[in-house]
Parts: sequence; structure tokens; C-alpha cells
Amino acid sequence: MAEPTKTATLTIDGKSYELPVHSPTAGPDVIDIRKLYAEAGVFTYDPGFTSTASCDSTITYIDGDKGELLHRGYPIGQLAEKSHYLEVCFVLLYGYLPKADELEKFERLLTRHTMIHEQMHNFFRGFRRDAHPMATMVGVVGAMSAFYHDSTDINDENQREIASHRLIAKMPTIAAMAYKYSIGQPFVYPRNDLSFAANFLHMCFAVPAEEYHVDPVLARAMDRIFTLHADHEQNASTSTVRLASSSGANPFACIAAGIACLWGPAHGGANQACLEMLREIGTVDRIPEFIARAKDKNDPFRLMGFGHRVYKNFDPRATVMKQSADEVLDLLGIHDNPTLQVAKELEKIALEDSYFIEKKLYPNVDFYSGIILDAMGFPTSMFTPIFAVARTVGWISQWKEQLADPQLKIGRPRQLYLGETARDYVEIENR
Ligand code: CMC
Repeated sequence: MAEPTKTATLTIDGKSYELPVHSPTAGPDVIDIRKLYAEAGVFTYDPGFTSTASCDSTITYIDGDKGELLHRGYPIGQLAEKSHYLEVCFVLLYGYLPKADELEKFERLLTRHTMIHEQMHNFFRGFRRDAHPMATMVGVVGAMSAFYHDSTDINDENQREIASHRLIAKMPTIAAMAYKYSIGQPFVYPRNDLSFAANFLHMCFAVPAEEYHVDPVLARAMDRIFTLHADHEQNASTSTVRLASSSGANPFACIAAGIACLWGPAHGGANQACLEMLREIGTVDRIPEFIARAKDKNDPFRLMGFGHRVYKNFDPRATVMKQSADEVLDLLGIHDNPTLQVAKELEKIALEDSYFIEKKLYPNVDFYSGIILDAMGFPTSMFTPIFAVARTVGWISQWKEQLADPQLKIGRPRQLYLGETARDYVEIENR
């Protein structure tokens, strides 16, 4: 990190403290409070990390006001249009656009790691058939550390690299197996002659009884969904991965922690929740009722797929996703999809409503992704596992960056304690 050129002054009880201010390559300045407790004996308070930078990073940048998302400087719109998921993985992991031979080598490497240890099949069989695929994924990914001992030493750079490749390559296989298990169909082994996205569709939808042809338009749409979800700087699940990793935990355990965090409806679980909401609304005439509920302070209901902690403008991923939804539905000949009609009308009404305008609540990436995945034939329970497949590279890139940082410290927040002060234990007969 470059030496700070500015300082901020904090005055407490008449005493002033100079705090260094770091200027980023993009985004707001950051006040460095690392020595604040040692010097002034106070903590700062920011429970949802709304104003706190938890690390420095060179991977992803979001300008929430502009609606801009950059991976290693490359705008997400350009990546979605001109690149593809595995190339984006390379960019996130290594920081630059690969030359043709580098990309080919990387793709070959990742496709060689797509199978999982055969004994892991037994793991799946221990779950109930009606388990949510995210529950299965948390368990199976965590269990990878019991199978791949030769890539759990985080101090060995080579092992870190192998663990990265294994996780990115095996996650689609694990997600597809979780799906197959939930519907009682046999597992389908990966095919290394297919692209990353086509192979995933194949593992989800092929059956041994007949040939399965992956439609290239669907494979492209799947690839786009992966690309658009690949990384999103210090979101909740990524921060979870970083926090788990800060204690020195192995990569499989850290990624399992990330999957657990992603599952919640305020984060990755929103894609499932959004489609379920659109279905519950059902018809365009019921939209005002749901808008009114979303605005009612006494009703916990929120419009799923709307709002974002960082974006206070259109989520650039949602714009691409909307186009993709149109393409996929066109290809599949779905023109009178009631869910899509509700989605389009809901978007229009919400964007004209003063509540949503004032609070800068725009559709996010999850608003349209569910419609595409539903049209492709995925059940809603698979939406978040697909997000997890895509986000694995983001988690891994951030995890690698963190471990390479010489300043790495265990993540250990402080608290504002509001409980009882010390008091004596009272014997049970005297209470
Ligand atoms: N519907 C209705 N009101 C909302 C919504 C919504 N979807 N989102 C935020 N608000 C209101 C909220 O009630 C609050 O109002 P007030 O200031 O009067 O109390 C205000 O907007 C600010 O909301 P917040 O909860 O303080 O904002 P946050 O930054 O903590 O939350 C969020 C961000 C994404 C959790 C939230 O917007 C939300 O719950 N959205 C629905 C879930 C969703 O779509 N999540 C996916 C996010 S994108 C993919 C991902 O990151 O995984």
C-alpha cells in the first residue's frame, strides 16, 4: 500500500488524533483506524460494515452510484459480451487477460479436475432426498478437506493453487450431483470435451437412457449467468470466506463457510426467493398489493430482487441478465410466460414509485436470473447452488489475495458491550 498523503483529525474529549487517509485508485478515501484503540482507547462502531473497508484488494471494483462493476479493471458488460466464464476466472485469479496459449492451458487444467473422488458419492447418499441442494453443498464441499489432504496446507503456494483449481472445477459437479440426488436420478459424470457451462447443463439434464444435446444458446446463457456472478468484492459470503481463512482454516472449509453465508435470502438466496415471489404475485393485477406490502413498515415483506447495499443505480449485471432472459425465452418459444409478464410490470411500476425512487431501489442481478434458470428447467432450489458455482472463483481469488498479504491478521471485530457489568453468582436456592 502506498504511503498516505493525507490525514484526518479525530477529537475526543478535547484531545486530537491524526489518522492516516489512504487514497484508492478508485472510490472514496479510507481513514486508517488500525492504531486508534492503541492510541485513543476507543473502538469504532459499524455493525453492518456500511462504512468500513475490511481489507485492501485489487480484484473487483464497484461504483454503486454509477452502476459500474469492474473485474481487474474490465467492465462487466464487456466481459459478458466478449469473454466467457473461464477467461473471467483467469482474469480474476491472475489479474490480466490471458494470451491464447495461457487460456488454453488454464482451461485444460480446470477440465482435468472436474471429477470428484468416487468415495464422495457415498456422502451424497447420506442426505435425505428432499434436502435443499445448498445444504448438501455446504456438507460436501466442507468434506472435500477430508478427501484432498494434499491441497490443504495454506502455507504451500503450490497446494493453494491446486486447491483453487479443484474447487472451481469440482463445484459444478457437486452442484449437479446435489440436484440429481434430489430428483432420484443417477449421477452424470463430467464430460471434458464440453465447455464449462455446457458440461454443467449436461451433468444436470442428461440421463443414461438417451443422448443429450446441449443447445449452444442455452450454454451461452448459462455461461453468462456464471460470468455475471463471478465476483462482487467484499460482499457477505466473500467476507465470510476471508474471515474463516484469517484463522488459517483450510480452503475447503473456508469455501463451505462462504456457501453457507450465500444461502440467505438477503444474499444469494434472493434468486430463489425472487422467483417464488413472482409466482406468488401470479398476475399483473396483484402487483399493487405487493408493492404496498413492501412499503409497509409493519410488514417484513420486501420486494426480492430489488435493492442493493452498494448499487444505488441500476445493477449492471441486471441489465445484461434482462437481455439474456429475452434471448432464452425467445429460443425456447416462451412468449406468454406469466412470471416474465409479472416481472416486467413489477419492474416498471416499482421504478415509477416514489418509495423505490427515493430509496434508490433498483432491480438487482437476482431479479431476472431466476426467470432464465426456470425456463432452462432448473427448480428454484437450484438457483442459489448455481450462484455458488459461479462465485467460487471470486471467493478463491479473494482468499488467495488475502493469504499472499504480508499484513494478514486474524479477523477479530470488537463490540459495543451493553450487557450487565460484573455481578456475583447467586446460589440456586437464593434466586
Ligand atoms: N423492498 C422494499 N424495501 C426495501 C428493499 C426491498 N427489496 N430493500 C431495501 N428496502 C428499504 C428498507 O426497508 C430501508 O428502508 P428505511 O430506510 O425506511 O428503513 C431502506 O430501503 C434501506 O434498506 P436496508 O435494508 O437498510 O439496506 P441494506 O443495504 O442493508 O440491504 C439488501 C440491502 C440487498 C439486503 C436489501 O435491499 C434487500 O433485502 N433486498 C431484497 C433481497 C435481495 O434482492 N437481495 C439480493 C442482493 S443482490 C445479490 C447478492 O448480493 O447476493
